[in-house]
Amino acid sequence: MKECRLAVFCSGYGSNFQAILDAIRKKKLNASIALMVCDNPSAYALTRAKKDRVPVFLFNPKLFKSRKAYEKILTCVLKSQQTDLVVLAGFMRILTPYFVRTLRDRILNIHPSLLPRFKGAHAIRDAFEAGVKETGVTVHLVTEKVDAGPILLQKKVPVSKTDTLRSLETKIHRAEHRLYPLAVKKYISYNNRTSKLKEK
Ligand code: GRF
Repeated sequence: MKECRLAVFCSGYGSNFQAILDAIRKKKLNASIALMVCDNPSAYALTRAKKDRVPVFLFNPKLFKSRKAYEKILTCVLKSQQTDLVVLAGFMRILTPYFVRTLRDRILNIHPSLLPRFKGAHAIRDAFEAGVKETGVTVHLVTEKVDAGPILLQKKVPVSKTDTLRSLETKIHRAEHRLYPLAVKKYISYNNRTSKLKEK
């Protein structure tokens, strides 16, 4: 079975990148990280990539006249690295329909809530302030609509009376680190099955 080549997109801390890399190292995931794409020169994710010798494509969005302009370069870079799947892991940019259509069904995202509840950039805080008894984590395919693509996996996280926003964030991030490698694995095995069916 062909090893799946991932391109992991990060803007910040990179803990989900690390969780996926660790799963690969432990042979829980038949994949490799062919590339990290990053838009922020001070992201800690870059330190992680350097430590593990993962190639990085770092770009400055401000140097391009539009989102589509840098996405065209990104699609060329992904092609040259022969990546099979884009894994958004804390990438703080909205992708244009151009990019999403070019890589249709080949982009995953992780979101820190039980979608469709609490879409947007402050999902953990929004759930906490809403006083819900449970929230969670979702991995979904990316479509033109933000935080709305088909759901691959979800994990519930209970909110206890003693939770603070900080403790809830910690619980959510732990759940993310378990869920994302599982979701990538599920995506890969589904894809392998369907491509075998197409070959028949
Ligand atoms: C995660 O909470 C993820 O759900 C959200 O951005 C955060 C990224 O964290 N999309 P990290 O950079 O992977 O540590």
